[in-house]
Amino acid sequence: MRRKVIAGNWKMNMLPNEAIEYIESFSKLVENTKNEVILCVPYTDLFYALMNAQGTNIKIGAQNMHFEEKGAYTGEVSAKMLKSIGVEYVIIGHSERRQYFAETDETVNKKIKAAFANDLKPIVCVGETLEQREAGIAEKVITEQTRFALDGLEKEQVKKVIVAYEPIWAIGTGKTATSEDANNSIKSIRNEIKKIYGDDVADNVIIQYGGSVKSSNAKELFTTSDIDGGLVGGASLVPEEFAKIVNYDEQQ
Ligand code: 13P
Repeated sequence: MRRKVIAGNWKMNMLPNEAIEYIESFSKLVENTKNEVILCVPYTDLFYALMNAQGTNIKIGAQNMHFEEKGAYTGEVSAKMLKSIGVEYVIIGHSERRQYFAETDETVNKKIKAAFANDLKPIVCVGETLEQREAGIAEKVITEQTRFALDGLEKEQVKKVIVAYEPIWAIGTGKTATSEDANNSIKSIRNEIKKIYGDDVADNVIIQYGGSVKSSNAKELFTTSDIDGGLVGGASLVPEEFAKIVNYDEQQ
């Protein structure tokens, strides 16, 4: 049985004092869950979040990193830097980075390799646009993104990757993919991984759904056959709401 992994992506929100207050109340609300809980916070919150999450079951991730280890890359942060302060996870290839910051399948692949080289666990985002969905090429797009992203990795590394399937038309729009659609897309990603890396890897890799997840739809999404949890944007900004999502399995 695969575990459920529920990650919050705060995006460009929350000042350090807000992050500290959030973790203080959120940690009490999720202390009994058996699900894995991750908060992916802005760089400026990382240190405070790591300090305040100590002794809790909350793991901390970053939202991006550079693939080079160091050098003349003004404004960038490397995997080694993240690791050096105790960060465990990093989101790679979020659609907002692909769309606004020229992230490509190639940079995504380089970043995943650099993350592993520094013992960080990547949360790799894939997802189709509305136009691609309407043109009937969603499955082709997400399986290709997955193949490119994971190209050249060892089987044992692919097992440790978390893939987040985030249809772009569902992000921040209030439109959620139906649980059946999301599950089918995730099955096709898993199938692609199976073709390349075999049954054992495909059966173990965690694949999340992201896009307007909230407490009212989390249970339906997360109890399907292939959705192993979620990557949650807006609804992760409020501790009570995000805790309900993490504790979806306690809902009636
Ligand atoms: P929303 O949950 O706000 O739709 O964002 C999803 C997302 O992009 C998480 O990475």
